[in-house]
Amino acid sequence: MDSNFDVIIVGSGPGGYVCAIRSAQLGLKTACVEERKTLGGTCLNIGCIPSKSLLNSSEMYHKAKQEFNNLGIETGNIKLNLAKMMSNKSKSVLTLTKGIEFLFKKNKITYLKGKGSILGKDTVVVSDTSGSKKNYKAKNIIIATGSVYTSLPKVQIDEKVIVSSTGAISFEEVPKNLVVIGGGYIGLELSSVWKRLGSNVTVIEYLDHIIPGMDRDISTEFQKILGKQGINFKLDTKVTKVRAVNNKAIVDFINNKSAKKDKIECDKVLVAVGRKANIGDDLYKLGIKINNKQKIQVNKKFETSIKNIYAIGDVIDKGPMLAHKAEEEGIAVAEIIAGQAGHVNYEVIPSVIYTSPEVAMVGKTEEQLKKENIKYSVGKFPFLANSRAKVNNETEGFVKIIADKETDKVLGVSIISVVAGTMIAEAAIAMEFGASAEDIARTCHAHPTHGEAVKEAALAVDKRPIHF
Ligand code: NAI
Repeated sequence: MDSNFDVIIVGSGPGGYVCAIRSAQLGLKTACVEERKTLGGTCLNIGCIPSKSLLNSSEMYHKAKQEFNNLGIETGNIKLNLAKMMSNKSKSVLTLTKGIEFLFKKNKITYLKGKGSILGKDTVVVSDTSGSKKNYKAKNIIIATGSVYTSLPKVQIDEKVIVSSTGAISFEEVPKNLVVIGGGYIGLELSSVWKRLGSNVTVIEYLDHIIPGMDRDISTEFQKILGKQGINFKLDTKVTKVRAVNNKAIVDFINNKSAKKDKIECDKVLVAVGRKANIGDDLYKLGIKINNKQKIQVNKKFETSIKNIYAIGDVIDKGPMLAHKAEEEGIAVAEIIAGQAGHVNYEVIPSVIYTSPEVAMVGKTEEQLKKENIKYSVGKFPFLANSRAKVNNETEGFVKIIADKETDKVLGVSIISVVAGTMIAEAAIAMEFGASAEDIARTCHAHPTHGEAVKEAALAVDKRPIHF
């Protein structure tokens, strides 16, 4: 095999594999190195995809058990087969990872199996599982090595009793009592899965609210909804110690305000307090600039401090740690290398929490706008007044549109709805085109759909919603 490439990408997550495909489309001779047995990185193998499979299956189970009867669907005794649910998850993951392998073949991308280390500005060494090493040359190297979980001081993750998200998507039994440390994306999605399957779930969050970074209105409403679903919350609470004792765990914590100490005994503890950039020793040896947040510093063209070495995705100090952000960066960097004007608009990156209902947002929150001293108007519309949501018994949540007070330009949209993740795309497109709330309000939306709530929220910015 020829070992000279135009581009070698280290890492095949959503950033890396999408970058490889775009590079190949642009006529660049491309290779992608991956040390995991299958392509797709954290997202496909142990993150977004398997967790969404479990979110979907657990929701079906919950609905069949709790809601079907009310709709006139009599089911008899509903039983959980967790092993089968897990194997369905694994099957979906395998199909999707194989799909990327197919796309690599289709685009004539060389798949280098093994651990890639960057030796110099044009050399990557790939060590395979048998221990053999081979050097490859590239005009351009792209670091797309993603992120790994973080833990708390003195908390040792064993993936048996004290687990990261990887352990929590593979429990062999439903834990009777599950403690989740961290009320962010991972914590809340996996709390939902195990609550629906029968666990008693307690979320411990350091701050006084969940999902930091999202609009406060949304965070407050979402916590109420999850509370009604039976998830317990301990906010403003710091975990001080987690011990595994006889196949169980004891979690010690202290309330930040009252300084009251307490503990919970449970069967499993999920630590979901964030992720950190996955930076290999090779990069430290090379002297690539890494900032004080332990992330790779890149310029507008995604170049690191070493010429011809680029970085994208979770590993860089730009934007949120989200798969679709990494994909956009992968496309942009390939286009920049090919001499085009690749670009990512960091102002319009949607984020979604795939619970039920889902939570989604794009753009700015009210809190950010206040800080930036920008005057704004707010339009809100509840799903209680949306006919489709009503007939489906999905009335929780609302759409909130924030627009510039003077120009009416949409600055941020937040949604809680069963289909918020799908709906947020409309808001992202509107914002990408610089739409005003009036533009959305004057766009015909199909009836009856959840999407009409976006139009109504846009009308509400000008205080003229029709159905509320
Ligand atoms: P996160 O940053 O979303 O949430 C971590 C939470 O832990 C925060 O609420 C934080 O205040 C809390 N926390 C931190 N230290 C704590 C302590 N000592 N005690 C109690 N609480 C503490 O991180 P998470 O959920 O681990 O997710 C990691 C990354 O993966 C995020 O960047 C997220 O965007 C991404 N992700 C995205 C998903 C999606 O798009 N649906 C799904 C899962 C992960």
